[in-house]
Amino acid sequence: MWCRFPGHAMAWLCLLMVLLGSCSLSSSSHVHDFKPPRYNISLDLPPKLRWEPVLKHYNSTYLREVFTYITNIIVPKWVHAVIRPLAELDLEHLVHEPYAGEIRGISRALGMSAGDILLVNFCYEATAFCTSIIAQDEKGNIYHGRNLDYSFGGLLRNLTTDLDFVKDGQIAYTGTTFLGYVGLWTGQSPYKFTVSGDQRGNGKWWENAISAFLKRSSPVSWLMRDALNDAKDFQSATLQLSRTPIIAEVYYIMAGTMPREGVIISRDRSGPADIWPLDPIHGEWFHVETNYDHWTTPPPHDDRRTPANKAMNATGQANINLDTLYKVLSVNPVLNPTTLYTTVMSAAFPEKYTTRVRNEN
Ligand SMILES: *[C@@H]1O[C@H](CO)[C@@H](O)[C@H](O)[C@H]1NC(C)=O
Ligand SMILES: *[C@@H]1O[C@H](CO)[C@@H](O)[C@H](O)[C@H]1NC(C)=O
Ligand SMILES: *[C@@H]1O[C@H](CO)[C@@H](O)[C@H](O)[C@H]1NC(C)=O
Ligand SMILES: *[C@@H]1O[C@H](CO)[C@@H](O)[C@H](O)[C@H]1NC(C)=O
Repeated sequence: MWCRFPGHAMAWLCLLMVLLGSCSLSSSSHVHDFKPPRYNISLDLPPKLRWEPVLKHYNSTYLREVFTYITNIIVPKWVHAVIRPLAELDLEHLVHEPYAGEIRGISRALGMSAGDILLVNFCYEATAFCTSIIAQDEKGNIYHGRNLDYSFGGLLRNLTTDLDFVKDGQIAYTGTTFLGYVGLWTGQSPYKFTVSGDQRGNGKWWENAISAFLKRSSPVSWLMRDALNDAKDFQSATLQLSRTPIIAEVYYIMAGTMPREGVIISRDRSGPADIWPLDPIHGEWFHVETNYDHWTTPPPHDDRRTPANKAMNATGQANINLDTLYKVLSVNPVLNPTTLYTTVMSAAFPEKYTTRVRNEN
């Protein structure tokens, strides 16, 4: 299983999803994969005003209901008690820009409190199980693909969007996210690099993350967006993602535009635990990362790594491209009932960035 919630919580969630008319068990078997909507976010606007034009496309009553249900079920009560009042009084001291302003803006647009939207951001941060693959073809082109698995996918399918972050009339970076979430788990800085994040470790996530957050470490997906925004090239992005303190362990999977520009960083909260570059000269033309350290064996009940490796071997370096990579990410159980979306991308060909929302049963 990819779900780390006690059984009763899942049962309640499914009941709520039925009430909301979006339980994946009842509805998704009739729904096909689809391309999510794609919107611009203007980085030239003040953070507080950036999300309004996107939110206008959605039913705000529905968004409020989804956010309230998700946070009530996923976020422990003590976190509500700690974070809500702090966010009301002191968001701008707790959270760096642009995230503080964006969270304020989203909360105003939806008529919720800033604390509520901050909790929504923690929900999405806590629960991303995934598969990411980087590969180099025989000509030296670099490809990157990812599945994002999330236990509450049924509720979030229609909140998935591709976003172009626009600065001075140019796309500064592109990413895929869920509405309400200001971080990015998947992104591309055109002609520079692509990045995805996969959850690592499963200790006391909430205890560790909240205390690190209060000490002003960055949520893992905010650091990904910072790197997409700041980094001048693949190397400096790798450095930024390796050494900036973050609130939880994670794998950062990165790909550039030049041969051998591909690396998987296994992160501790304070710094890198391991750096695993592509090594095509010695036959390592691809790497697969799921949610387990690459130097250990994945548990038999959740081995998505071996099927992905087999499918990559069967594809072969001569035939790898974004289409065949998408097919590898569609092999069971790499693609599984919790898979919310698949993105394939290659920073040298930014217009090929493609996301599909999945409906596998
Ligand atoms: C989600 O979007 C799909 C495709 O646009 C639509 O068929 C479905 O009814 C939507 N579900 C909800 C719960 O809005
Ligand atoms: C918006 O969502 C609410 C709650 O899900 C629903 O009752 C209402 O009919 C929706 N409004 C529109 C215009 O679809
Ligand atoms: C998004 O921004 C880009 C770059 O400025 C522009 O070319 C495109 O037309 C914009 N798209 C929309 C839907 O406004
Ligand atoms: C894939 O191929 C490599 C190199 O031949 C081999 O070491 C590895 O065991 C293969 N993996 C799987 C899962 O077949």
